[in-house]
Amino acid sequence: MNQQHFNAVFNRLTERRREVLLKLLANEKDEAIAKSLYIKPTTVRKHRQEICKAFGLTNEFTDQRHSKFPELIALFAKYKPELLNQNTSELPQTENLIEDKTISENPDFVGREDAIAHLDMLIGKFNAKAIGIYGKGGIGKTTLAYHYLETQKLEYLELQVGMQAEYITSVKSWVKDQLRHQFQEKPEQDFISTLEQLKCKLQDKPVGILIDNLETVLDENGKFKKEHIDYLELFIRVLNAPNIKSIILITSRERLNEAKLSFIEAYQLPELDEIAWRRFFSRFDINVNCLAMSAIHKSYGGNALCMKVLREPIQTKYNGDLEAYWQQNKEFLLKGNIKDLIASQFDRIQNNNVDVYNLLCRLGLYTYQKIPYIAIIGLLCLLWDVQEEKKRSIIDSLEQTHLLEFRKERIENISNSWQDSDSLHLDFPPSQGWMFNLESFHNEVKLLIFQPEGYSLHKFIWEEAKSRLYLSNQSIEYLLFSLKAQIDKMLIPYET
Ligand SMILES: Nc1ncnc2c1ncn2[C@@H]1O[C@H](COP(=O)(O)OP(=O)(O)OP(=O)(O)O)[C@@H](O)[C@H]1O
Ligand SMILES: [Mg+2]
Repeated sequence: MNQQHFNAVFNRLTERRREVLLKLLANEKDEAIAKSLYIKPTTVRKHRQEICKAFGLTNEFTDQRHSKFPELIALFAKYKPELLNQNTSELPQTENLIEDKTISENPDFVGREDAIAHLDMLIGKFNAKAIGIYGKGGIGKTTLAYHYLETQKLEYLELQVGMQAEYITSVKSWVKDQLRHQFQEKPEQDFISTLEQLKCKLQDKPVGILIDNLETVLDENGKFKKEHIDYLELFIRVLNAPNIKSIILITSRERLNEAKLSFIEAYQLPELDEIAWRRFFSRFDINVNCLAMSAIHKSYGGNALCMKVLREPIQTKYNGDLEAYWQQNKEFLLKGNIKDLIASQFDRIQNNNVDVYNLLCRLGLYTYQKIPYIAIIGLLCLLWDVQEEKKRSIIDSLEQTHLLEFRKERIENISNSWQDSDSLHLDFPPSQGWMFNLESFHNEVKLLIFQPEGYSLHKFIWEEAKSRLYLSNQSIEYLLFSLKAQIDKMLIPYET
């Protein structure tokens, strides 16, 4: 092979293969590649074999020990050494090398260029210090807000208001937590004084503030419900104070309509357009060049969550053939109902793998507002009836469905902010009489399960998980009993 031949083969590789190749050349492991590209490790190995084949390096044996990969590396060392051992996450060159911008695109964030420009404009031109991002459930408000604050390179405080009226984060304890853990300040006793303290801190230093799911504390007129009037105090006394240097983003399905809060600029977030959906699906080798693409996008109103939920069956069951998926499920898909779509995905998982299904439903046992992220160990604890060696692969399978969200730690010193929260946030009906005293759960349990980075479920998915849990044959008491037994088992090393 000469340089010319090498270049020709390299340029003919499909987008996905080049992507896998760059990661392989960067010495990344199959499992890590699979995870980052949302494919199976076996698919990565298949790509590797095909890439070797394209370069004329055929395997005489299917056995991996006889892989031709070392020879492929030798070829790259000779003809494209600059690609060896690169960190692919810092590879701006990727775009140039493969002359296709979509390749480096993050599938978790497509098509929000206009929204970002709009937020920039509100902040830059109108000097907005607080913006309410409004829109239907699952349209992408929270994702946009996170992304925006992250690209501003701001540390930010996060107030997860809560997914359900029964589980609302108390502003009083949130403010105290922020003072203690973000600003290392001892909070005063009374609420108003703590608000003053927080205001002073925010005048010192620019930070971002994300207030997520505000609709849960609003009434049907967009006003704060009486019992959540503390929220109004926070907004008026802190967020509207002169000289605070924060960028405040508020997400809500309903519009906030408080005369005293007219300083908050409103931004109605549109749905993702069809181009964004195409870009997303292309990333998963789904054929988007068909009429079905527009129809399905239209049917679900460009909803971001639907786009994500649709991906897995199209990719795996229909091998990326979107047209076939549409034709065979047209009647169902034309209804465009987000909850039905999620329920159908639950059914599919139940048929495919009952362990994965159980894990998904049992995740409904946790609540996700004050401590929104559950570390992997919290997932392992839910798999009490599964063999040890299978647990990881079950979690991996669930991750592949995209029903589980994974978030990384965003603020360095947030890691302790949940430690002194009052109790474990397990969800159970008090009427059933919970036989364990939750307060007696050791503090270490919180350390084990609730981490500043980890997994969570989107509200719609959590609701489906919870309702299936309650409908299942097993009592919630039994499930919590099993979970507690598992947690206790994990705690043994901490007690000795
Ligand atoms: N721009 C995007 N690109 C890819 N995926 C996205 C995008 N925006 C949102 N998503 C995905 O869609 C799902 C719903 O997004 P998100 O949670 O941000 O919606 P939301 O509007 O905040 O919903 P809710 O009103 O229920 O809080 C998430 O799984 C998220 O990862
Ligand atoms: Mg949200």
